[in-house]
Amino acid sequence: MALSDTIESIRRRNTEAEIGGGQEKIDKRHERGVLTARERIDLLFDPGSFVELDKFRVHRCTEFGMDKQRVAGDALVSGFGTVDGRTVFAFAQDFTVLGGSLSHTVAEKICKVMGMAMKAGAPCVGLNDSGGARIQEGVEALGGYSDIFCMNTLASGVIPQISGILGPCAGGAVYSPALTDFIFMVDSTSYMFITGPEVIKSVTREEVTQEDLGGAMTHNSKTGVAHFISPDDGACIANIRRLLSYLPSNNVDEPPVIDNGDPADRLTPELNDIVPEDPNKPYDIRTIINSAVDRDSFMEVQEHWARNAVVGFARIAGRSVGIVANQPNVVAGCLDIDCSDKIARFVRFCDCFNLPVITFEDVPGFLPGTHQEWGGIIRHGAKIVYAYAEATVPKITVITRKAYGGAYCVMGAKHCRADLNLAYPSAEIAVMGAAGAVNILYRKELKAAEDPEKHREELVDDYRKHFASPFQAAELGFVDEVIMPADTRVRIAQGLAMLANKQDTNPPKKHGNMPL
Ligand code: HXC
Repeated sequence: MALSDTIESIRRRNTEAEIGGGQEKIDKRHERGVLTARERIDLLFDPGSFVELDKFRVHRCTEFGMDKQRVAGDALVSGFGTVDGRTVFAFAQDFTVLGGSLSHTVAEKICKVMGMAMKAGAPCVGLNDSGGARIQEGVEALGGYSDIFCMNTLASGVIPQISGILGPCAGGAVYSPALTDFIFMVDSTSYMFITGPEVIKSVTREEVTQEDLGGAMTHNSKTGVAHFISPDDGACIANIRRLLSYLPSNNVDEPPVIDNGDPADRLTPELNDIVPEDPNKPYDIRTIINSAVDRDSFMEVQEHWARNAVVGFARIAGRSVGIVANQPNVVAGCLDIDCSDKIARFVRFCDCFNLPVITFEDVPGFLPGTHQEWGGIIRHGAKIVYAYAEATVPKITVITRKAYGGAYCVMGAKHCRADLNLAYPSAEIAVMGAAGAVNILYRKELKAAEDPEKHREELVDDYRKHFASPFQAAELGFVDEVIMPADTRVRIAQGLAMLANKQDTNPPKKHGNMPL
């Protein structure tokens, strides 16, 4: 073949692959306000950096007339490129080809980039938009899913894995994202469910819309399956790029340092009055977080779910950190089942990827009630202790107000290997709140008192003076320093600098048996 013919053949093959399921289907997507797989990939990577792999690979199925439905690349665009100059691998399912369904070939393409990402030590981003297992392929497609799940599991804790859900994700298609570290969804156009509304109706007679069952807000606020919600594809992919900016490329890499000029020794006098004197008055813990970290650097994770805890990424002196905090604004910041899961999983992610954990603590305890007890709060709450105790990354805890009872023990306490424990003068570290303690300790005495209410007040006041301060803990060395709120950022920055070369290990074992 003449060289010009070869070049023409390559050009034609490329064009065919790039058009996927055809212009008509591409137009249909645009009418619905969603992007194609290739447009998504273009937004994810630095301009011109994407290198596509397996562009001409086709499926091998011949059943149900599938031999006449072969599209170059099958239903997936995959490869590698750079995001802010760092190597990232990615795949995007192409809904225009057989509804983005997963053939064995598609699964092989996904496993190839995941394997390469693990060898290269680079994050892997999956942009999911798929009708699930390719029905015509039967068990071959199911095997493909299992191969992907296995790769997800092996890659867990080695490289960051991020999933964008940018369309339907049904059946097996949900489990690969669920095995990754973070799930991003798009409002009104993305869905995740094991069985859809039709199946549910036929089995349980329940009627539910796709949106209610598994839409972006459902998974961001009710189930905790998703971590981020965006208004459209573009915003979602921009958010994925932002998240990557906080993360190292792999488990033996350091996160990138991005100094935005905010001085590490900036004082935070605005925090002097942030904690109300009345112990029952709420305040927004995010005010403290935003003052302490580099300006505008806080990226909240799971903002709409288990809002009694706040977790997210930020930078201090340009270095990435994970933030965990109780939120006094929501059920007084009590720990419950959902926020235990939220905190534990986040701390473990930080520990996998060398991100120091900064904890802001103001928590009156675990939420009481049969709903919590029967829901297994013992099992779920134990996850927080496990995550903190097992983590070997630098850990700094700031107690801003209440650290009562079990909640004191689990939220980054010195006893669970925290490195630096700081407390505001307003900190109250006690077995329980003063009123509750007095009721138990002085029940008989109060009954016999001439003026029980007055006596109760005196006893509460006495208990609070005794225990509800940081000083008993400071005298015991459980708190390393009582700091003024104005020094919050400075002290954390100093602590992080001191811990920059921290080395710590866990006893050798295959793996622990975390309560699940
Ligand atoms: C083959 C599929 C397909 C699939 C969709 N298509 N899903 N082809 N296998 N799983 C094809 C359609 O036939 C259609 O082809 C094109 O993709 C677009 O689909 P539409 O239905 O026209 O699109 P839309 O109306 O937007 O609906 C999208 C959808 C729906 C909600 C995803 O297609 C759907 O419900 N699909 C089936 C979902 C499902 O139950 N999957 C199996 C899950 S079980 P044409 O040629 O008309 O354009 C599973 C098991 C794995 O995954 C378990 C592992 C543990």
